[in-house]
Amino acid sequence: MADRGKIISIVGARPQFIKLAPLVRAFREKAPKVEHVIVHTGQHYDYNMSKVFFEELGLPEPDFHLGVGSAEHGLQTALMLRKIEEVFLLNKPDRVIVYGDTNSTLAGALAAAKLHIPVDHVEAGLRSYDRTMPEEINRALTDHCSSILFCPTENAVNNLSKEGFSNIVNGGKLVEDTPRLTGKEPFVLNVGDIMYDSFLLCLGIAEKKSRIIEELSLKGEEYCLATVHRAENTDDETRLRNILEALNAIGKDTQVVFPMHPRTRKCLEKYDIRQRDLQGIRMIDPVSYFDMLILEKNAKVILTDSGGMQKEAYFAGVPCITLREETEWIETVEAGWNFLVGADKSRINAAFQSGPSCQGEAGYGIGLTSTRIIEIIAHPNRDSNSLQS
Ligand code: UD1
Ligand code: UDP
Repeated sequence: MADRGKIISIVGARPQFIKLAPLVRAFREKAPKVEHVIVHTGQHYDYNMSKVFFEELGLPEPDFHLGVGSAEHGLQTALMLRKIEEVFLLNKPDRVIVYGDTNSTLAGALAAAKLHIPVDHVEAGLRSYDRTMPEEINRALTDHCSSILFCPTENAVNNLSKEGFSNIVNGGKLVEDTPRLTGKEPFVLNVGDIMYDSFLLCLGIAEKKSRIIEELSLKGEEYCLATVHRAENTDDETRLRNILEALNAIGKDTQVVFPMHPRTRKCLEKYDIRQRDLQGIRMIDPVSYFDMLILEKNAKVILTDSGGMQKEAYFAGVPCITLREETEWIETVEAGWNFLVGADKSRINAAFQSGPSCQGEAGYGIGLTSTRIIEIIAHPNRDSNSLQS
């Protein structure tokens, strides 16, 4: 890939729109002659799960909207695969970029790999080592058909090294300028975390624009922020009930604001869990990214099973209690910002009562991840052959 040509980004789910935003900006600034085409699979489709992010983040309308919607994992991935392949055949991209670990990520990577189009994976190398998580399968398979693996951390690089990836640039240390990629694909680089770029890009604007604190009549550091959407927590009635009961108990003293993912809302209906029995929890609809950043920044504690929000808690300087048994973002735990408690009522409550406070450094780069990625993918002195062996 030189400084011109066509690159297709595949997105479909909420966190991918947030990861896309800094790259769209970096493409404009660093590689204006590259045609950057955006494909939205339609995995997320409610206004407040999709369009609100395009509007708020000033993202261009997707060039292709595949309208796949919700379905069982296999069917959803298959429909995406079929439609993405059609887009690739028609548009003949030079490279494809996929983000994170959703079904949209896997479908994009697989469609490209089958057509011998190089795939670059943003947020490569993360592992929970829990193969029952749909995301774990998506990550591993995507990594193993990618050409350039853009890792957010040294831990992610180490995970890939254990799986046999050997062309590791800069010994897995943060890449601070444009490296020369030599040798045989796939290349593994630690470029820092793209969500840190998004956070830095948007916090100042969010502080000016968001009215969420006033709208919800909140006071800084006097409320907790909670989100739950992982299949392991929502599809298991006992785990979901335990989490909600623990949040409800916390909410009797400290208000718990809970922007609820549609998946979780549907599970509440399915299990006949009533809002009126959970008066300690303030359930609201999903919020925009700017509103979420402001809710995070002002929260006393964040309780979540979201991957992105564990890191944002750290970026915002707020302790995080993670409602999972393990995390891919292990640096936040090692640095003392993140406390893993699973779905156990007494552990959730004990972590909250301990008044968690934090101080260590977790890393995640310097907020120039998108710049590094574009410099590497669209390097003016590189043609596609120089990326091959
Ligand atoms: C997906 C990702 C997950 C990511 C999350 C981000 C996979 C396997 N999972 O999970 O890794 O953390 O996105 O939020 O790709 N729904 C709506 N409206 C929408 C979207 C979804 O009502 O706009 C409901 C549907 O009932 C759907 C359910 O939510 O069946 C789950 O949606 P889906 O995209 O399959 O998975 P997520 O739980 O969102
Ligand atoms: N987010 C948001 N509004 C919400 C919930 C989350 O803007 O109501 C943002 C959050 O700030 C983070 C991203 O969405 O940037 C995380 O997405 P999610 O938790 O859905 O997925 P995960 O990161 O777990 O894959």
